[in-house]
Amino acid sequence: TGAVTYDPGFMNTAATTSAITYIDGDAGILRYRGYPIEELAQHSSFLEVSYLLIYGNLPSGTELAAFDEKIRRHTLLHEDLKGFFGGFPRDAHPMPVLSSAVSALSTFYQDSLDPFDDDQVELSTIRLMAKLPVIAAYAHKKSIGQPMLYPDNSMNLVENFLRMSFGLPAEPYEMDPVMAKALDLLLILHADHEQNCSTSTVRLVGSSNANMFASISAGINALFGPLHGGANEAVLNMLRQIQASGDPVEKFIERVKNKEDGVKLMGFGHRVYKNYDPRAKIVKSVADDVLSRLGGNDELLDIAMKLEEKALTDQYFVDRRLYPNVDFYTGVIYKAMGFPEKMFTVLFALGRLPGWIAQWREMTKDPVTKIGRPRQLYTGEPERAYPSR
Ligand code: CMC
Repeated sequence: TGAVTYDPGFMNTAATTSAITYIDGDAGILRYRGYPIEELAQHSSFLEVSYLLIYGNLPSGTELAAFDEKIRRHTLLHEDLKGFFGGFPRDAHPMPVLSSAVSALSTFYQDSLDPFDDDQVELSTIRLMAKLPVIAAYAHKKSIGQPMLYPDNSMNLVENFLRMSFGLPAEPYEMDPVMAKALDLLLILHADHEQNCSTSTVRLVGSSNANMFASISAGINALFGPLHGGANEAVLNMLRQIQASGDPVEKFIERVKNKEDGVKLMGFGHRVYKNYDPRAKIVKSVADDVLSRLGGNDELLDIAMKLEEKALTDQYFVDRRLYPNVDFYTGVIYKAMGFPEKMFTVLFALGRLPGWIAQWREMTKDPVTKIGRPRQLYTGEPERAYPSR
């Protein structure tokens, strides 16, 4: 079998080729299917970006309308699946609720599970795009004890999600276009990021020929961790703690540098970006505007900006090339939109969904794909004789 390379954390191992997302970590470049993230953020919509990632090219007007129409037709969740939400404790974190419900899609939609049947793959693609926002909104409603709303298919994906998250059955929901636009932008920024932890998980699980629902459910669980998608929730907790302590941000920075209790500056650092994260730059550029229009907590934004300023000039962070990543400012915006902290990583999952789907589809079509099976270097005991007793 040849020599085994030891590469913990896959710092230097390409597990696949891919034509979806390009990152140059030194130059701070991110492109989806060749299009710079800055241009997509400015001109595109989350729906269009989803199409681009999944099918490879920007859609024509007719193609986008057909994609939109198909998604709107599949928003309803099976009524029995709705009952599933009642089984979780009221204070359940919505991320495991999300991954469990996505896993359960394999039991309700058994006619779209074959990874090698193009029509079935297409059907599960549309089902996931249509149903994940509904599942996410239901997980939220469950956690606050409010009734779940049926999707209203006269609305687009993002608006429908906002209405299902914040609307009430007896009252008409007044859509805030600033909020809908801001959320659409944040979803675009999260839509793909090549072979990150959750995407690699989706591919690894899928490499065993597991169906798309099962693979993406696993990806959602990978995203939950605070070093990955869970960082956006952790950032807000950190900012709140600093606010509550009343201490200057310098004190917190010192704790991080001294690695006191393993405390990290959450929302900082990235495995690939070593000069800046282009997504963070875009989020920061809109944060001020969005917060002033939504009436968010400026004090938390101020603390975040002070932390960034101090960290960027501090030798510890300079030496380690640590910069704010996409998660640093998103939490402050989600909070201003009215989402509780527990929902932040769910919003990341909604954004990342088209990326996971695109990567899973690319993998199943790639003739080179083999079951993922890393090797190891054994460090345990040599052979031992079982003691006679
Ligand atoms: N605060 C303080 N020190 C840090 C941080 C941080 N946020 N990130 C890295 N370091 C230090 C780390 O302690 C190490 O120092 P030393 O050499 O003295 O031991 C050095 O920088 C290199 O770090 P690493 O852990 O080897 O880097 P990595 O590539 O393995 O980890 C990371 C990348 C994102 C997991 C890490 O930077 C981190 O834990 N950041 C905080 C969590 C976070 O914001 N995650 C979101 C990532 S972006 C969105 C996403 O993909 O989900």
